[in-house]
Amino acid sequence: RSIKSLTTSPSAHILRRGYASEAVPQRKVTVLGAAGGIGQPLSLLMKLNPLVSNLALYDIANTPGVAADISHINTRSEVVGYASDAELGKALEGADVVIIPAGVPRKPGMTRDDLFNINAGIVKGLCEAIAKHCPKALVNMISNPVNSTVPIAAEIFKKAGTYDPKRLFGVTTLDVVRAKTFYAGKAMVPVAEVNVPVVGGHAGITILPLFSQATPKANLSDEELTALTKRTQDGGTEVVEAKAGKGSATLSMAYAGAIFADACLKGLNGVPDVIECSFVQSTVTELPFFASRVRLGKNGVEEVLGLGSLSDYEKEGLEKLKPELLSSIEKGIKFATQ
Ligand code: NAD
Ligand code: LMR
Repeated sequence: RSIKSLTTSPSAHILRRGYASEAVPQRKVTVLGAAGGIGQPLSLLMKLNPLVSNLALYDIANTPGVAADISHINTRSEVVGYASDAELGKALEGADVVIIPAGVPRKPGMTRDDLFNINAGIVKGLCEAIAKHCPKALVNMISNPVNSTVPIAAEIFKKAGTYDPKRLFGVTTLDVVRAKTFYAGKAMVPVAEVNVPVVGGHAGITILPLFSQATPKANLSDEELTALTKRTQDGGTEVVEAKAGKGSATLSMAYAGAIFADACLKGLNGVPDVIECSFVQSTVTELPFFASRVRLGKNGVEEVLGLGSLSDYEKEGLEKLKPELLSSIEKGIKFATQ
C-alpha cells in the first residue's frame, strides 16, 4: 500500500487522534492480578485502549485463559500472559504503567482495613518486583486498603532506592465516578457533564466529595448534600452488600481503573491538562499522603492541586477524616519498615 493509503486508513486515524505530527508512542501496560474480578474487565478495557501497544497480564492463577481470550481482540496491543512468580520480572520489564488490582476483596461486615493482613504482603512482594524490573513505571495502586497500600509501596520503593513520589498513585477514581453518578441523579443534570472532586483517602469518612465545587451547579439542600456525601462514602459497602459475599465492586472499578490508566498514558504522551483525583504524596494538608486533583504529565505527577474553597460541612469532614487517614498511613509505613 502507498504511504498515503496507510496514513488515511481508519485505524491510522484512530491511532493518530490527538497527535498532529507524530505517531502514538509504544506504551506497555502491565496488570498485576489480571485474572481477578477487577483484573479481567480492566484488562479488556486496556486492550481496547489505542494508547497501549503491549499489554502484559500477570496473575498467580488462571492467567493463560484470560490472556488467550483477550489476545484475540483485534485492537492495537499485543497481549502476553504471565502465570507464575518466575515470570513476574518479564511481565514488568519495560512497563510504562503498572496497574495493581491483586489481593482479596471485602465480604459484608468487613472494613477495607480488615484486608490489610493479606493484601499488605501481596502488595509488598509486587512492589519489590516493580522496583527491580521497572523502577520508572507509573504505579496505579487499586488493592485495598489503598490508604495503607500506597504508603507500603512508597516505603518498599524507598528501601530499593527507586522511590519517585511523582510515579506512585492510589486509584480513587471510583469515588469520583460514584460522586458524579449520584450527583447527576439528584441534581437532574446530564451525567456526562458532571465534575466533582473527591479528596482525602479511599475508605469510609476519609472519602470526602466536594459537592460545593460540583458542576453543573445545582441548588441542593443541606440534607441532600449530606445524603450524597454519605452515599459516596458508603458506595463500596453498597456494592459489597449487594454482592452478598461474592466480593466487591469489579465492573465499575475496572471502568474507573481504565480511566485513570488512560489519564496516566495521556500524561506520559504529553497531552496537556490531564487532571484526575488520586491519592498521592502530598503537602496539601499536614498528612504525608492525600487524595486531591493532580495534573498528570510526562513524569507522572506534574502538580498536586490544592483543595479550593470548601463549605463549612466539607471543612468539618476534612478535620474529621485526618486522624483515621493518618493512622492508616502510619500502619502501612510501619508494616513496610519493620
Ligand atoms: P479478586 O479476588 O476477584 O481478584 C484478585 C486477583 O488477585 C485474583 O485473581 C488473585 O489470583 C490475584 N492475586 C492474588 N495474589 C496475587 C499476587 N501475589 N500476584 C498477582 N496476583 C495475585 O478481587 P477483586 O474484586 O478483583 O479485588 C482486588 C482488590 O481491589 C481488592 O483488594 C479490593 O478491595 C480492591 N478494590 C479497590 C478498589 C478501589 O477503588 N481502589 C475498588 C474495588 C476493589
Ligand atoms: C470500593 O470502593 O468499591 C472498593 O474499595 C472495594 C470495597 O471494599 O468497597
